[in-house]
Amino acid sequence: MAKYIIKGKKQLAGELEVKGAKNAALPILCAAILAKGRYHFSNIPELKDVENMLNLLRHLGLKIEKTAPHSYYILNEGVKTLEAPYDLVKAMRASFLVIGPLLGSQKEARVSMPGGCAIGSRPVNFHLQAFEKMGAKIVIDHGFVLANAETLNGTEINFPGVTVTGTENLVMAAVMAKGKTIINNAAREPEVADLCGLLNKMGAKITGIGSDRLEIDGTVELRACDYEIISDRVEAGTFIILSALTGGKIEIKNARLQHLSVFVKKLKEMGVDVAEKNKTIKINVPEKLNSIRVQTEPYPGFPTDLQPQLMVLLSQAEGESAIEETIFENRFMHVQELNRLGARIQVEGHRAVVYGGKKLIGAEVKATDLRAGAALVLAGLIAENTTVINEIEHIERGYEDLAGRLRALGADICLG
Ligand code: EPU
Repeated sequence: MAKYIIKGKKQLAGELEVKGAKNAALPILCAAILAKGRYHFSNIPELKDVENMLNLLRHLGLKIEKTAPHSYYILNEGVKTLEAPYDLVKAMRASFLVIGPLLGSQKEARVSMPGGCAIGSRPVNFHLQAFEKMGAKIVIDHGFVLANAETLNGTEINFPGVTVTGTENLVMAAVMAKGKTIINNAAREPEVADLCGLLNKMGAKITGIGSDRLEIDGTVELRACDYEIISDRVEAGTFIILSALTGGKIEIKNARLQHLSVFVKKLKEMGVDVAEKNKTIKINVPEKLNSIRVQTEPYPGFPTDLQPQLMVLLSQAEGESAIEETIFENRFMHVQELNRLGARIQVEGHRAVVYGGKKLIGAEVKATDLRAGAALVLAGLIAENTTVINEIEHIERGYEDLAGRLRALGADICLG
């Protein structure tokens, strides 16, 4: 298991360029299952999760060629197997995103059921109930979801809760269904909108993109196309927090602030000014940061994927801040680790109280999941002495060459 060794408190300055969005790239890669032909995808981040997804697509019979950094051709000459095996799904829960396009295009799929993960149990019942409502038969057998439908029929789906990958799976099935599908309470995340943008470019007819009501006219004829993935709002938010933590001398390129409006508003309440000029984001930090109250919510609310990183910034604010996590039941695993570094954070159920103004001092900690790991890197960079972060595989799933990019800013971070 690899680790990061960080000697903190170095002066950080320079530019960070945000890569393509992991959570847009993953469903978009899966959409290549839907229609034969040659796709060209650009701005794909070089991440372990992307590698896992490409391996799964290869297993299904698609051919993949890397044309340049962040760019891939995907050739679909026909899907060769309908099964996504345990090993490939276990490596990454987002592999479950192949079930929608397989069911849509092949009317059949056999996909290993994703297990729970560190941040919560993360069931897929909303996905499966929606497929059933479209006429699919769903059987769970020996840890696999078997789905098949003689015809998949458009229908009206009311998701009981907002689900990002559930919405994506359903949209990918519905574009090839017979008739119109309406999805109420659809996820509005920019990654869902990006997938819908690709599908429409392929010939699908989706309206209401970016709203919580999607209307999809089922079309049989879809075609391969070229597509550039949006930039990663979570990576951008993580870097904005890093800049705020280190005096605002880090500037951020290739970010879309319109995808981060509530996040930017919350930073403003803390006293941090985040502004875009000439496609560069600059951060202005006051002497003292204010404490705030934050609640995570589905988009456009405050993203759960930036909650751990924000906690590090709040640990440096004046007074007591409160965070309520409403999306995942167990997304406070980073709290114990941050407390090991000298933060004082108390958790009760879904709420955390962060007692600010605490000096962080290096210690050995472990990344329990991707965003928790990112928070520990931020903390390590501002802590005194040396911080060792174990299990950084989680971090590499979502941040491309993080250590290298931080070193270019002056950070002392190496792999151990
Ligand atoms: N839920 C159900 N039943 C379902 C689906 C979801 O009860 O069938 C619940 C979940 O347990 C959770 C809530 O609904 O409490 C929201 O889950 P959602 O389905 O939206 O999460 P997801 O699609 O599995 C995606 C991202 C996550 C991100 C969440 C929330 C991808 C590949 N993953 O997960 O990203 O945190 O949406 O925004 O898009 C990350 O990048 O670090 C990450 C975890």
